Amino acid sequence: MLRAVAIACVMASPSLAQEFFTLKGHGGPIMDIAVASNGTIATASFDNSVGLWPTDKPVWLEGHAAAVNTVAFYSNHLLISGSDDFGVALWEDQGGGRLVGSHEAKVTDIEICRENSNLFATSSWDATVALWDIGPSFADVLIGLGDWPERRDLAGHTSGVNDVAFSGDCKTLYSAASDGTIRVWDVDSAQETQRLANHGFGVNELIVNDADGWLAYGAVDGGTRMLSLKTGEVIADFTLGRRPILAMAYDRVGKQLAVGDGEGFIMVIDTQQRAITRDFRATKRGPVWALSFSPGGQNIHAGGIEDIMYSWPVATMDEHGPMTGEPRSFLEDPKTLPNGERQFKRKCSICHTLTEGSARKAGPSLYQLFGRKAGTVADYAYSDILTGSEIVWSPETINGLFDEGPDHYIPGTKMPMQRIVKQSDRDDLIEYLRTATVQGED
Ligand code: HEC
Repeated sequence: MLRAVAIACVMASPSLAQEFFTLKGHGGPIMDIAVASNGTIATASFDNSVGLWPTDKPVWLEGHAAAVNTVAFYSNHLLISGSDDFGVALWEDQGGGRLVGSHEAKVTDIEICRENSNLFATSSWDATVALWDIGPSFADVLIGLGDWPERRDLAGHTSGVNDVAFSGDCKTLYSAASDGTIRVWDVDSAQETQRLANHGFGVNELIVNDADGWLAYGAVDGGTRMLSLKTGEVIADFTLGRRPILAMAYDRVGKQLAVGDGEGFIMVIDTQQRAITRDFRATKRGPVWALSFSPGGQNIHAGGIEDIMYSWPVATMDEHGPMTGEPRSFLEDPKTLPNGERQFKRKCSICHTLTEGSARKAGPSLYQLFGRKAGTVADYAYSDILTGSEIVWSPETINGLFDEGPDHYIPGTKMPMQRIVKQSDRDDLIEYLRTATVQGED
């Protein structure tokens, strides 16, 4: 039954097309991309949502209270996500979901065991890895029935853990952290068994192919290496001096490894020949944050600072050109703008529009802000604290908000901590907002 539905989805899925395409709809940068075995794509975004793309019309999975950093398919129709709100959430593909647990800092990666798919792992900047056992029924966990998931924590790293990977049989777990180490854990006992590498600089990304005996990693200093899983020795070094390495994806069919970096390049490595086969400037500016291959490895999907996911056929990447999209307002050359507008573009525009409609951004539209009671934009899901607030937005209250910082001015708001220290910057920003929130942005 499920299988028949999955096949029907494949026909409509943009993800199997061996051509260049984009997916549009998010209101913020794309932080992660996952691909189901039937080719369906999921995107995690700074706009607090996961986009699920059975066609180019997305289903939105909404519930996180902050940027979503990581998403993974548990099956073709079930997903798991992790967020800056520290939470781990389970979803079904019609949009229903539930928070099942939390870390004590942001969740950076989710890895699902391919062998025994009751098991998944999460890594977090709280320096731990958590192992989660869903138990017999994902559906029960989704509606909060029973005592699952069961959770065990792996502690030992001395700073944030950025990535995790299982061995093929899921008996071994590998973790990479900002403390510069790559550690090996026994899943049954939840104990660290080995320190495979000490890179010195923080390690951001990790791919494991234990059948072929190697682990690949990417680090903050640009280090890009393959290690022998047996000895920990470096068996290939692809470091090009571009940094940091921010994304890695592996095509298990074609055995190609893709590496994305802070300077906007995607490099493709043939892991059998141990040779770089492509090196492609994927963005004109800004980093490559998210990478994933289509199921057969024909296409590479990528995300970065734009709201748009790009997918290039690996064979003809160079023919399609890099991410261009609409130049995002917060990326305009700041030197050419008056101070108030510059303050807004740099510090606010990633989360707020000035026109009617919140446009899937992380915060509500600021259109007609002055004289408005706090928490009253209809298309936005505020925190309870803002909905119940008596504040009316005026030059004085906005000044207070950024003089003290939202966390002090409205304790409990989900607006992130941010102060604008200089009075003249606050004045210029408010002056700019006074005109721009009446006229709209452009
Ligand atoms: C990272 C995202 C983010 C950034 C950056 C940000 N905000 Fe917000 N802002 C939010 C969120 C989320 C809310 C809703 C808070 C809630 O519901 O508790 C909010 C709410 C507000 C509100 C209240 C709106 C209302 O309808 O009551 C104002 C005013 C505001 N922000 C102004 C600003 C300004 C000005 C800046 C730049 C200096 C800024 N914000 C930067 C996320 C952000």
